[in-house]
Amino acid sequence: MKKLFVVLLTVLLAVSMIGCEKKPEVKEVKIGVAIYQFNDNFMTLYRNDIQKYFDDLNAKDASVHYTVEIVDGANDVNTQTEQVRTFISKGVDALIVNLVQTTSDALAKEVVASGIPCVFINREIADFEYGDKTCYVGADARDSGRYQGEIIYNVKDHGDLNGDGTVSYIMIMGDPENTDAQYRTEFSIKKMEELGAKVECLFQQTGNWDQAQGQELVANALSTFGDKIEVVFCNNDGMALGAYQSIVAAGRTVGKDIYLVGVDALPECCQMVKDGTMTGTVLNDDVGQATAACETVLGLLAGKAPEKKVNYVPYVMVTTENVDNYLK
Ligand code: BGC
Repeated sequence: MKKLFVVLLTVLLAVSMIGCEKKPEVKEVKIGVAIYQFNDNFMTLYRNDIQKYFDDLNAKDASVHYTVEIVDGANDVNTQTEQVRTFISKGVDALIVNLVQTTSDALAKEVVASGIPCVFINREIADFEYGDKTCYVGADARDSGRYQGEIIYNVKDHGDLNGDGTVSYIMIMGDPENTDAQYRTEFSIKKMEELGAKVECLFQQTGNWDQAQGQELVANALSTFGDKIEVVFCNNDGMALGAYQSIVAAGRTVGKDIYLVGVDALPECCQMVKDGTMTGTVLNDDVGQATAACETVLGLLAGKAPEKKVNYVPYVMVTTENVDNYLK
């Protein structure tokens, strides 16, 4: 009887111990990502890269699980302000913010005041006080402009197709809420001049980074200035795609009677550079920037101060010579 009792007790104990066996704990980390607008070719690549970065981490290490919520600011300041405030009040562990508006630092200040670690991306506020837990990851747009100037200067006639001694160009600008628009406009032309070109601006208007607006502006410019236009500078590839449609519709041929240059190195534009239907583009390294932003978030979460308050990932000039490295 006693023996039976001991056996029973042992079995009971064993069963209860199995029940108590601890499952390995999974640390939950919530990350809120606010994108200025989903309807943007470059930021679409960028936000997919961010998602992929954390998906890969989740697949590699089961002890931490990152939940990434990405929201669309729809290019509207009020919408984005609500979204970021909601992330803050939900108590996310970290934020990645691509501001709609950079001419005001009100929302960025709210983020800093919340004490939540945050990496701002793609749209830089000039001279912002980042505090200890916030910083910026982007790229120095002056370089992308310089590379555009260099691409055009490097073609056989330096961009002066009609040989009259002057490069006559049109400039399709991005949304000025991103300093990239201003810098690319300024430094592409400065670089041409530095290299020795004489330039003349026929037309300069804002296409807000948007393909359809780029198409319309270039169609207007071509109907006004026709053959006088030798070079079409676009502040980004999205607008260059639109420009290309209008160039074709006007019966012009890139590389033969007009040059076209953009920035971003979107996959479809790299293919166009390869085919000769775009003169060149500049790699705006979405993967490099997304990786730097995510790594910085991890550092901030681990309590490390960011190495740089403003971290610029380099641009790369893309022409027929090296485009094979960027074709996807
Ligand atoms: C990119 C554009 C994009 C913009 C969004 C720029 O750096 O070159 O394609 O529309 O960022 O802010």
